[in-house]
Amino acid sequence: MLEDIQTLKSQVEAYQINTPEDLEAFRLKFVKKEIPALMGNMRNIAPENRKDYGLAVNELKGLAQEKFKAIQDTLKAASLEAGIQAPLDMTLPIVPHQLGSVHPLTLTQNRIIEIFERIGFNVADGPEIEDDWHNFTALNFPPNHPAREMQDTFFLEKDPDIALRTHTSSVQVRLMENQKPPIRAIMPGRVFRNEAISARAHCIFHQVEGLYIDENVSLIDLKQTLYHFAKEMFGKNTKIRFRPSYFPFTEPSAEVDISCNICQGDGCNVCKYTGWLEIGGSGMVDPNVLENCGIDSEKYTGFAFGMGIERITMLKYRIQDLRLFTENDVRFLKQFRNLV
Ligand code: DAH
Repeated sequence: MLEDIQTLKSQVEAYQINTPEDLEAFRLKFVKKEIPALMGNMRNIAPENRKDYGLAVNELKGLAQEKFKAIQDTLKAASLEAGIQAPLDMTLPIVPHQLGSVHPLTLTQNRIIEIFERIGFNVADGPEIEDDWHNFTALNFPPNHPAREMQDTFFLEKDPDIALRTHTSSVQVRLMENQKPPIRAIMPGRVFRNEAISARAHCIFHQVEGLYIDENVSLIDLKQTLYHFAKEMFGKNTKIRFRPSYFPFTEPSAEVDISCNICQGDGCNVCKYTGWLEIGGSGMVDPNVLENCGIDSEKYTGFAFGMGIERITMLKYRIQDLRLFTENDVRFLKQFRNLV
């Protein structure tokens, strides 16, 4: 009987295992079948030999299990090395996910678009590198007009006809040249001016332009549209006021203020104790501009407005320094994490 154990032991030792399939065959043959069968033989053994027999079978069992485990580990390591994924372990703790946040300027731009889309405005855009016609001339800036110098323009050195657009009003011109009225659109985008960077000014910033051209569009439509915008953006108790102003491309022109959303008009250091905060410029599109763009100024009228997106964002989220928008400081950006 002890010879049976010896024979099986030599078989276990000699058994060739190269693949997971060989390993499984080994397990079924020895661990599951033949070694338990030897155990089952115990009752045929003379009682005085049973102890030795039992010890020998147990030793063989240990040997087979060790061989199985050792080869199993080697095969597992080899398959991982070969890039084969270990089975997914659903009980492992999750890797914490680093969620980003929407940039505050994007939040504001998205909100502006949402407000105007609901009242029938489309979104349009145009190039950031513009020619003199679209940025100035078509907008009724005569050559050598001082208003051209008001906007510190980045011109292309080799071709002074080409510049980085100083305002999104250039997109108005492109729209009117390419579409027939009625036109109702907002045009958000980047603009560029040669200004020193400070808490209140930057050489790259964002504006949103608005344009509505149709028959019988009046100043009332302009006022009501901007009033609606101000209430949606800053809260339903917000008031607006128009201050007469001058822009070459609108007549009459007005600057638009909203009631200070911090002191509700009582006066504080943000509104410099006036109770009002400026958000942009506006007016009725000058008939010259309509004609420059091929629109019949006898038949059509329209209004336009332009607002600073940084300015609106600073007022809405009470941000004191414009440079924060471009510094990519995560301590600043993280504060907008829960907003969409
Ligand atoms: N383009 C002007 C600026 O950048 C803003 C502006 C004023 C736009 C009046 C308009 C407008 O459309 O009607 O200062």
